[in-house]
Amino acid sequence: MAGFLDQIEPLKQTALTELRASPDLAALEQTKGAWTGPHGKFTALMKQLGTLSKEEKPAAGKLINAAKVELEAALAARREELELKAALPKEPTDFTLPGRRRALGKLHPLTQVTDEIVRAFRKIGFAVADGPEIEDEYHCFDALNTPADHPARDSQDTFYLKTAAATGVATTGATDRRLLRTHTSSVQIRVMEKQQPPVRIIVPGRVYRRDNADATHNPTFQQIEGLYVDKHVTVGDLKGTVEFVFKELMGNDVKIRFRPHYFSYTEPSYEIDFTNALVKKMGKDWLEIAGCGMVHPKVFETVGYDSAEWTGWAFGFGIERIAMLRYGINDIRLFYENDVRFLKQF
Ligand code: DAH
Repeated sequence: MAGFLDQIEPLKQTALTELRASPDLAALEQTKGAWTGPHGKFTALMKQLGTLSKEEKPAAGKLINAAKVELEAALAARREELELKAALPKEPTDFTLPGRRRALGKLHPLTQVTDEIVRAFRKIGFAVADGPEIEDEYHCFDALNTPADHPARDSQDTFYLKTAAATGVATTGATDRRLLRTHTSSVQIRVMEKQQPPVRIIVPGRVYRRDNADATHNPTFQQIEGLYVDKHVTVGDLKGTVEFVFKELMGNDVKIRFRPHYFSYTEPSYEIDFTNALVKKMGKDWLEIAGCGMVHPKVFETVGYDSAEWTGWAFGFGIERIAMLRYGINDIRLFYENDVRFLKQF
């Protein structure tokens, strides 16, 4: 009996020392196991309790329980200490260090190119106009002298909206279907409906077509429309303006070529080809860049302008094409993927 009781105190002292010296939580758990686990040294001592006589048991039990309570308290205290230590930063905070800088964002390359085009046109007195992306057939087609059987109106090329009422776009024409505008030319009509000539506007904006995406097509893309209405306006004015803007944008080695074409809202109509060192580098002689022409008298009559008094030109070009050329980008889809690794470069 005496031998048994004598063991308790030194064993407890060693256990306490070890628990208090555990350097981290993992070590503490191991020490706990070594003493009070199923095969622990303290557990072994408690098991010996059963071998004592009836008289010896109460005193020994009391002593051993007191020791156990003390060990558990020491364990809990050390655990709390270590948990607190783990939650603290390893290095003390230096409040005099500079803050973590937030990276500055940038304008999207298409926005940058659009801004530059707008800047060039502003120099020669053009104002920026805007119109809805959800349009009606009247402004997108009818008022632009595009007949009902024109292929562009086909649902193959145009995104039509299910209901007219849901869009809240006001219509003035006979045709009431709503659609995502296929070009920015619809804004020519909206501006002329509201404003008397002279007109000198450009319209940057997003347009939509039912194209499958590939390296040169995307169902969403951007255009810039231009409209100039005044007295005695000629194709010469159109050519001079386009040349000025492209030289501003791409440098003085730019050459422009007009090719006859057909658009229902202009007569005569042209496609504009463009070339410079970059186009040559791509292994091409010319790159088609825009459509344009002299505003059709029917369009003027539709908006209530006197076509005997007023003349004008209009054009529309694709912004992606210009941006691709400018930055040497070979896939239009990159503009729409929002991959920062791409966007960071501009
Ligand atoms: N709307 C035409 C297109 O999307 C481009 C265009 C051609 C616009 C001739 C015009 C124009 O204003 O006069 O392909």
